[in-house]
Amino acid sequence: MSLTGFSAGTPRAPHHNSLPKVTMPALGEMKRQGKPISALTAYDYATARLVDEAGIDLILVGDSLAMVVLGQENTLAVTVDEMLHHTRAVRRAVRRALVVADMPFGSYHGAIGEAVTNAVRFVKEAGAEAVKIEGARVELVRALVEAEVPVVGHLGLTPQSVHRMGGYRVQARTADSVLQLQADAFALADAGAGAIVLEGIPREAAAAITAALLIPTIGIGAGPDCDGQILVFHDLVNLTFAPAAKFVRRYGDAAALFRSAIEGYREDVEHRVFPSDAESYHLPEAARRLLEADGGSDNVRDDDAAMDDDAVVNIDAREETNPS
Ligand code: KIV
Repeated sequence: MSLTGFSAGTPRAPHHNSLPKVTMPALGEMKRQGKPISALTAYDYATARLVDEAGIDLILVGDSLAMVVLGQENTLAVTVDEMLHHTRAVRRAVRRALVVADMPFGSYHGAIGEAVTNAVRFVKEAGAEAVKIEGARVELVRALVEAEVPVVGHLGLTPQSVHRMGGYRVQARTADSVLQLQADAFALADAGAGAIVLEGIPREAAAAITAALLIPTIGIGAGPDCDGQILVFHDLVNLTFAPAAKFVRRYGDAAALFRSAIEGYREDVEHRVFPSDAESYHLPEAARRLLEADGGSDNVRDDDAAMDDDAVVNIDAREETNPS
């Protein structure tokens, strides 16, 4: 058991309530006003809540969870049910940011009807406000938008294409491939995509596409000229157990923080200094005196009952409220 601050009534960070809810149309408005869009991934309640309370505009429940949360080698094996499970947790935490769920590999690569059915599950069962799909799947984007499912596209280095690409390689490195990428981005926008993630492409390519599109681009490894930026949460705080990619900037070292907390706890347990007396519950005075007078054995069951009846120990309070 843990005393969480997860219930609906728990106070939030002070500035949090004053910011307006981010919607898909609001992202377009931010682009028109030249306001940078901040985006991060999150996969669980606690981190999603921190990300939301920090004022990040868009939270992506990325299929990167396969790697950074589930420890898999790539993103391919994560399932719709696993993605739904994590999207629900994030949804419970988030008040302001736009919650976007990644459609996992295989969930939108077959018939369009099946893909729409899968996408609708993210909105209906998990509370996502948009789904993200990789590649220039123009007809699918059109069908999703017709089904009232807002879509974020994803072009450039698309991790679900890892086998076709032969690894995670920077894409669009020739003039022709930049033009192709730009045509794909236009086609997605024309089909109704609300924004496009550009991943792993040269800065110049991202800048040209961003300037040409009316919808926002959100870059990751695509340079500073996109309308917004996204990073994987675990990259941001050093929880990946691997050297950071060139495009990652680490803003904190959660691994070091967690390691020192965990090691401190282990040492305290091993040296019997945790828990302290102040971190323990106590018998009411009367029951304690009875126990001491009795010397221990026969009446212990009676005294246990006394503790249950008399000591009003509210586990939810930091202070013991003991009537004796
Ligand atoms: O799954 C993910 O985290 C992503 C981002 C890298 C954009 O798709």
